[in-house]
Formats: sequence, C-alpha cells, structure tokens
Amino acid sequence: MDPSIIGIGTDSIGETHMKIAFIGSGHVGPALAKLAIKAGHEVTLANRHGADSLKDIVAGLGPKAKAVNLADIAEGQDLIVLAVPYNQIKNIDSDLLRDKKVIDASNYFPQRDGQNTDLITHKIASSQLVANHFHGSEVAKAFNTFSVANLDSLAKAAGAPDRIVMTVAGDGEVKKIATDLISEIGFQPYDAGSLAESFKIQADGPIFGFQGTLDEITKKLA
Ligand SMILES: NC(=O)c1ccc[n+]([C@@H]2O[C@H](COP(=O)([O-])OP(=O)(O)OC[C@H]3O[C@@H](n4cnc5c(N)ncnc54)[C@H](OP(=O)(O)O)[C@@H]3O)[C@@H](O)[C@H]2O)c1
Repeated sequence: MDPSIIGIGTDSIGETHMKIAFIGSGHVGPALAKLAIKAGHEVTLANRHGADSLKDIVAGLGPKAKAVNLADIAEGQDLIVLAVPYNQIKNIDSDLLRDKKVIDASNYFPQRDGQNTDLITHKIASSQLVANHFHGSEVAKAFNTFSVANLDSLAKAAGAPDRIVMTVAGDGEVKKIATDLISEIGFQPYDAGSLAESFKIQADGPIFGFQGTLDEITKKLA
C-alpha cells in the first residue's frame, strides 16, 4: 500500500481496501469508523439494539457505512473492532467471530468491570481473555490508550514528524493488519509486544492516556 495516496489529506481514494465491522457504536466505534472511511475502507456498525437504532450515525458517516444486527456483524468482514465496555464482551456470542481477525479496543477497569485478580495482577492480559472468549479468532489490542474525542483532528499524514503514536500489541497477521490500519488512519504505530504482553498498554499502565510522538514515547519508556 502506498502511504502517499492513502488516508489523511485525501478525501477518498476511490477504492475499498477492507470491510471493517465495529461491535459497539458509542464513542469509539463511529470515531474510528469515520477515519477508516477516510482511508478508503467500508464500515459496518452494530450494537445490542438493532440496525435501526444506528441509522442516524450511519447517515452521518455517509455511503461507505451501514449498520446490521449484531448476529450478522461478522459476515463478509475482513476485520472486526471490539468497541464495547469490557464487561460486555462475555455477553457476546463466543462463536460470532470464529476465524475472524479482531482488534480489541476495550479497557478493563476493575471499578466498572468487576474485580478479577488475574487481570489486576497481570497474570493474564485482558485481551487474552477476549481471545479465549472468541475461540478461533485472532486478536490484537489497539485503539485503547487515549480518548477518541477529537480523534480526527489528531490524525496526520504518513511521514509527518509529529504524528501521534497509537500502540498495538498482538501476534501474527492480525497485528500487521492493525499496524497498517493505525498508519492509514493517520497515526504512528508503536509495537507494544505480543498479546501476552498487552497488559503493558492496559488502563493501569504507563502509556494509558499518553498522546505524543514516537520520540516522546521512546523517552517515556526508556
Ligand atoms: N471513549 C473513549 O475515548 C475510549 C477510548 C479508547 C478505548 N475505549 C474503550 O472502548 C470501549 C468502548 O468505549 P465507548 O466510550 O465507545 O463506550 P460507549 O460510548 O458506552 O459505547 C459502547 C457501545 O457498545 C454497545 N454495546 C454494549 N454492550 C454491547 C453488547 N453486549 N453487544 C454489542 N454492543 C454492545 C453500546 O450499544 P448498546 O448499549 O445500544 O448495545 C454502545 O454502542 C470501552 O471498553 C472503553 O474502555 C474508550
């Protein structure tokens, strides 16, 4: 993919690269969907309340967006983004994402999501439990470390020296897809390790809330 013709700074490249589905259409789903469309992708949104409940959001996103009922969200999709409260993930059909590439954008907050000693002590990363739940899927963690408020105003073209970093953790092909997508939507990917190491970018870690450049994150983690 030629970064010079993709994404921020171009209104559209007239070609669809991926079909990206969002489970969860609150703050995170539509904010990421807007940037994914700008980068030339097609998006599909779902929540618990049916496609009709999302018609205003879809209209706002334009012709490259649609909504479906949750049961149909994975059909024909190249990538699924989980954008729901962490404690809701267990309520989603664990067969729904079989064989799918998944990015988990959720955050575990003990106060909101319930006390889980294994998560609190980092015995296991929250996204590993997500991967265990959606058996047969490949999961990476990304898009979780800072607020999506004004996300589009933070996006910058590939090559800009002051691009804001977005961290990604995972393994294999899904990590590559997530890394490429971060860059396409206008951010600097930063490899935070494997999915087993993804506790480092959870809500209780040093990167949470950080909005800065590659130089700044490198210094912060030195
Ligand atoms: N807000 C941020 O800036 C931000 C940034 C990075 C990461 N995050 C993380 O991303 C996740 C989503 O955050 P958010 O701020 O977008 O939350 P939100 O505004 O509350 O939206 C949550 C969405 O998930 C849907 N949902 C809830 N339970 C569901 C289920 N069982 N099945 C399908 N859809 C369900 C909700 O719709 P219905 O209730 O209609 O089903 C709603 O569309 C959280 O884990 C959060 O910690 C948030």
